[in-house]
Amino acid sequence: MTQIAVLPGDGIGPEVTAAAVRVLDAAHPGLSFVEAPIGANAIATVGEPMPADTVRICSESAAILFGAVGGPGHDHLPPDKRPEAAILGLRKHFNLYANVRPARVFPGMETRSPLRSELVDGMDLVFVRELTGGLYFGEKTLTKEDGHETVRDVLIYRDYEIERVARFAFALARMRSKRLTSVDKNNVLLSSQLWRRIVIEVAKDFPDVKLEHMLVDNAAMQLVRDPRAFDVIVTENMFGDILSDEAAMITGTIGTASSAALNSAPDANGFGLYEPISGTAPDIAGKGLANPIGAILSAAMLARYSLGDEAGATAIERAVSETLAEGPRTRDLDAAGGASTNAVADAIVARISKVAA
Ligand code: NAD
Ligand code: IPM
Ligand code: MN
Repeated sequence: MTQIAVLPGDGIGPEVTAAAVRVLDAAHPGLSFVEAPIGANAIATVGEPMPADTVRICSESAAILFGAVGGPGHDHLPPDKRPEAAILGLRKHFNLYANVRPARVFPGMETRSPLRSELVDGMDLVFVRELTGGLYFGEKTLTKEDGHETVRDVLIYRDYEIERVARFAFALARMRSKRLTSVDKNNVLLSSQLWRRIVIEVAKDFPDVKLEHMLVDNAAMQLVRDPRAFDVIVTENMFGDILSDEAAMITGTIGTASSAALNSAPDANGFGLYEPISGTAPDIAGKGLANPIGAILSAAMLARYSLGDEAGATAIERAVSETLAEGPRTRDLDAAGGASTNAVADAIVARISKVAA
């Protein structure tokens, strides 16, 4: 029996992950799900954000379905003791360097975008965010120098780290429209100069893919000016973190944004960690208001990338698309109505069962 590690985490994590498990079970019956603590709840119960037992369960599984970690009450902790250290630690432990983050406007959702409908109609882009290097993983120090508190967050990239994520992105672009935008800050950062040089080198192996380079500040601007001008975007860790939240909101809500963290080619079936890109949403946690679709579409990516089940993945995506068009919708998409997390999950499960029957 194929085992999936389920790490619900904190805040809305458990609510949206439960929905995703139900949908995945309907689309791909016969999986065994093993739940384990992670993040703030692991700090509370086990005393650390990423318990060894949780890591062991993950390594015995075909994939990880992850909710979100973090929340109030941990700001006094150093970075490596915070709940967020758990997700960074899992990505690093399993070498999940390629983070696929689609931003797509489903039919009927155009009017939910903060941009004019005609700008986003048919928007369908995907970020490949480098996930195990850069600022989030470098040495961090806070010292007193010449009487002043002095802080350092070290940004390190090694050539092979850039090369492998660039290869992943070119391969993904080849599977889509054969256009790739590499985003950097080449005009200021030495790390971005190496990034651009290596991306240009890798491009020689993908002559059929059209490559363009864009500075990150301009990319943030172009995304709101004309999001449909993009197809695949590859960028380093922090730029990808920020721009993917921006792109998610352009699709109408961060609540439908999904992701896959992988360590093999985009068309290889392998291990991966799947999670919505949003956080624990403390403002709505525990109220049944969270949109479960980001988690559910992450489960679809799990089916595609880790189970090799394209039919299951497509069945989930179709059920989501129909549910977004016809309802019910959660409050982030329908301020006046606003169905519960479970009502949306029920509607999606029902649509999958109808196809399967
Ligand atoms: P957030 O993404 O949790 O919330 C931002 C806003 O989006 C909030 O108004 C929230 O209500 C809304 N939102 C998020 N997900 C939603 C959903 N599924 N449905 C409807 N609305 C949704 O970002 P934040 O408030 O900056 O962070 C809260 C905590 O989450 C922090 O501790 C942060 O570190 C953590 N975080 C964790 C992850 C992760 O585990 N991968 C990702 C991002 C943030
Ligand atoms: C995300 C989150 C994480 C990140 C945090 C919680 C460490 O913002 O998955 O986008 O920065 O990668
Ligand atoms: Mn983020």
